[in-house]
This record gives sequence, C-alpha cells and structure tokens, in this order.
Amino acid sequence: MDGVNTIPNIVVERCLGARRIAVLTGAGISAESGVPTFRDRDGLWTKLNPQELAFMEAFLKNPQHVWEWYQSRRKVMQEVKPNPAHYTLAAMEDFYPVFSIATQNIDGLHQRAGSRKVFELHGNIERNRCSVCGRFVELPDETAEPPRCSCGGLIRPDVVWFGEMLPEEALDSAAQAARTAEVYFSIGTSAQVFPAAQLPYDAAEHGAFLVEINAEPTALTPYAHISLQGKAGEILPRLWRAISEKAANG
Ligand code: OAD
Repeated sequence: MDGVNTIPNIVVERCLGARRIAVLTGAGISAESGVPTFRDRDGLWTKLNPQELAFMEAFLKNPQHVWEWYQSRRKVMQEVKPNPAHYTLAAMEDFYPVFSIATQNIDGLHQRAGSRKVFELHGNIERNRCSVCGRFVELPDETAEPPRCSCGGLIRPDVVWFGEMLPEEALDSAAQAARTAEVYFSIGTSAQVFPAAQLPYDAAEHGAFLVEINAEPTALTPYAHISLQGKAGEILPRLWRAISEKAANG
C-alpha cells in the first residue's frame, strides 16, 4: 500500500480510539518550510563538519566561526514559515485531551503554527545564554560576535551541542508523554541521535501504536507498527482529513 496516497485504516482507527497522543519531530518536518536537514544528501552534516560547529570545544576554539554559523541559521529560521505538517499537529492538539510534541528542532516553527505543548529537546536558536553561568541574555538579531556575560563567560546560542545534556525538564516531560501515549508519531527524523531517538522505542514498549512518517526508511522503521513514507506536509494533512471525516461520519 502506498503510504503517501492512502492512509491505512488501522492508523485512522487507532487515532480515533486514542485520547493520548505524543509526537517526536525532527528536521524533516521543517524541510518543506525551507530549513535544511542534517543527514540527507544536501543535509548540513553532509556538507559541514559538526566537530567544528556543534561541540563546546569548537566554540571555545573558534567562537566567532561558530557564532556566525548560528547567526546565519537564525536568519534562515526567522525567514521561513510553518508548513502544513506543523499546522496539522497544531490542529490535532485542539482535538485530543492529551497531546504533546517533543521536537529536536530549534526553529520554533511548531509554536508559530499554534502548538502549545512543545518540549524543545535541543533548545531554541532564538535564545542565547552564558556558556559559564547559564544566564539568559537578549541580544539584537544583528549581533556580529559573541558578547561576554557580566560573569566574563562567552554568550552562546541556547542549543544543545554534541556531548551535552538535554534540558532535563523537556526530556522528562517528553519521556512521560511517550510512556503514556496510546499512539506515538515519529515524524521527519532519521532517529539516530539519542536520547531523543529512544522516545519512540519507549513509547512502543509501553504499549503505544507507533507510526513513523518519514521521507525514507530509518533505523526505527522495522520497529514501527506502520511506516508512512513521503513528505510530512502531505501525509499529515491527509491523515488528519481521514480522521476528521471518520469522526464526523461516526
Ligand atoms: P536528520 O537530518 O538526521 O533526519 C531528517 C529525516 O527527515 C531524514 O530521514 C529525511 O529522510 C527526513 N525528511 C526529509 N524531508 C522530509 C519531509 N518533507 N517529510 C518527512 N521526512 C523528511 O535530522 P534529525 O533526525 O532531526 O542535533 O537530526 C537529529 C539531530 O541531529 C538534530 O536535532 C541535530 C542533529 O545533529 C543537534 O544539533 C543537537
């Protein structure tokens, strides 16, 4: 069955029968908005070396280089808009008594689409904080070099770099949502970066019906109850239409 054109009935039934839905999203959900992914053919980590950009050691070695890269990404993310996949998840939140999104994305597009319960596992590029004392700092968009905090530490983007802990509250909330969800969606993620990638497995182990929506198969695909291959911005609205029609027709 072609997952792109036909939403399997079992997914519609499971979603209709559920009260608690949780979602994990990755870079793929923002791809149709124009935000580059990491591991696709044109992905950021295919072209650039994460060792030079996404490690604390890299920032300490060359703060200006890392700062400029994040400033350029911030500009891209400010200019793009949510796509139908983001809007569909926001609409679903209004329908379900318990609905949350754990996102690995730092672009804020879920919130801009209207989603309220969003756990940001890898931070948010719009925020900056001191790399030493952790104080949050508001800065003009055009800040050309990383300023110093009053404690002397360098200001860095509030994003999670490799080897760093995820924000505890966001991860705990995401883990709790995964363990209690009746249906769990993994959307637009290669499911390679842990601990975020652990969430769908935990959800399935705790009884959730696991649905993956991704442009291509991933490491998670064999463990998903259903894997829908294609664009999230096309599949999610189609799924939501099928659920809404079935709900209306009884
Ligand atoms: P990846 O780039 O690893 O995976 C994105 C996935 O989305 C790929 O499997 C694509 O096939 C899929 N995809 C692309 N376009 C899509 C579309 N329109 N609809 C559905 N799927 C699509 O990105 P993530 O899994 O998010 O971490 O990467 C996880 C983390 O690795 C990121 O948060 C980032 C990175 O290093 C940090 O920066 C800490």
